[in-house]
Amino acid sequence: MTALTLSTAGAATLRADVLVVGVAKSPQGGKGLVVAPGAEAVDAAFDGKLATVLETLGASGAEGEVTKVPSPSGLKAPVVLAVGLGTAPEKDDTYTAETLRRAAGSAARALFGTKKAAFALPVEAVEDAEAIAEGALLGAYAFTAYQTAGKDGKADKDTKGPLAEVILLGAKPRDKAYKAAIERALALAEEINRARDLVNTPPNDLTPEAFAAIATAAGKENGIKVQVLDEKALTKGGYGGILGVGSGSANPPRLVRLAYTHPKAEKTLALVGKGITYDSGGISLKPAGHNETMKCDMSGAAAVFAAVVTAARLRLRVNVTGWLALAENMPSGSAVRPGDVLRMYSGKTVEVLNTDAEGRLVLADALTRASEENPDAIVDVATLTGAMVLALGNRTFGIMANDDAFRTSVHEIAEEVGEQSWPMPLPAELRKGMDSPTADIANMGERMGGGLVAGLFLKEFVGEGITWAHLDIAGPAFNEGGPFGYTPKGGTGSSVRTLVKLAERTAAGDLG
Ligand code: BES
Ligand code: MN
Ligand code: ZN
Repeated sequence: MTALTLSTAGAATLRADVLVVGVAKSPQGGKGLVVAPGAEAVDAAFDGKLATVLETLGASGAEGEVTKVPSPSGLKAPVVLAVGLGTAPEKDDTYTAETLRRAAGSAARALFGTKKAAFALPVEAVEDAEAIAEGALLGAYAFTAYQTAGKDGKADKDTKGPLAEVILLGAKPRDKAYKAAIERALALAEEINRARDLVNTPPNDLTPEAFAAIATAAGKENGIKVQVLDEKALTKGGYGGILGVGSGSANPPRLVRLAYTHPKAEKTLALVGKGITYDSGGISLKPAGHNETMKCDMSGAAAVFAAVVTAARLRLRVNVTGWLALAENMPSGSAVRPGDVLRMYSGKTVEVLNTDAEGRLVLADALTRASEENPDAIVDVATLTGAMVLALGNRTFGIMANDDAFRTSVHEIAEEVGEQSWPMPLPAELRKGMDSPTADIANMGERMGGGLVAGLFLKEFVGEGITWAHLDIAGPAFNEGGPFGYTPKGGTGSSVRTLVKLAERTAAGDLG
């Protein structure tokens, strides 16, 4: 991955291929552009006319806009890249961390093929340096594992690699707080990028077994205890939900338990991820147009995996247990049918009315299993419903919970780390739509409020008295549109930052 270093060198004298600076629209009332703090030396090399030069080139300062300018003689770096920051903050205000994160991401995306770039964006506090580092490392992401061009020596113009080296200016390399923040940004971005890789890996290669093997290897590397239940163990244990969903596939299901523990931890957080390595819908087959991106249906498990590894790398003073509920949802002669009744790990029976509502079935077993260990809180993450995408769009995940204060905390944490989310209710009256004439509950209810219905289903499998939240990331997990800010096309790593911050807050004793 991209290397990251801090430097106290002046922007003018630093040797790099490109210097990144920020440019913004003048705050209310003002006219024209302003160069953001951090780039004073660069502006001086332009005789104080960098804003004018950029204006002449058509720059507007809009978020994400990038403008390249050849450097004047006073700068060592041959090129200046100005990235838009939107409207400049009023006097005494500063750019938000998320504005800086996105700008750094946009700049990094514009620098594919560049070796070394120095970022001279505004750093007023540790959080700013951290956000810029995160944005740059997340923006410099590419998934090329399946592109053969260029690898056999053939010249190929499309194989420009991501930015190789990021130098952060304005941070204090010898300051402990800065050092820690940069270390955190590096671990977090690396693990988010690993989650993206998992999501982008095609489902013929990322089977439940393959995912479990990757988790096992990463666990070993990072001092995480990993246990894998294969189909035999799942049968013995009575995991009817996971087995039912996996029954139509030639690639058998797995339940993975990842346990990061700290000797001085006082709290335990359990994270549960939906890991459908491919969702065809099963016998309730999805029509063409709805299944092309369904390799993304393991994004929840990828996020949980990334969060546990990050917690371990950062040695957080909290126990974090991750549960990956892995199965492939396929139609076949052995697949679960609409009308079948499954006996779940909890002992409850579920009538499967729609085999495409499979996520709640695998999660139910994992939630029950996670509850047995009586954690202080459980958070599950899942690309669970199309209804949540209809409600909140492609960039915002929904948060449901059995505890209002906890839901609010998760929402605030997401906001703080720059992930868009919104609290959603679990209206009790929607439960009766899942009444089954045959079993304890059906896996489908009313169509209206489908995301909430799914949440209500999950709630029934959470252990009595355990605080629980459910993140439906069906919208933001996979970006089918163009890249923006630090978000690439394809797998995004949605919710990892929220989960890691939640673990940190739990470690600090700030929650419950
Ligand atoms: N994996 C899908 C949900 C999904 C939709 C994720 C779009 C990402 C993008 C899930 O398993 C599913 O198929 N849900 C059904 C539930 C319905 C049958 C009750 C849905 O939302 O249509
Ligand atoms: Mn489905
Ligand atoms: Zn699914």
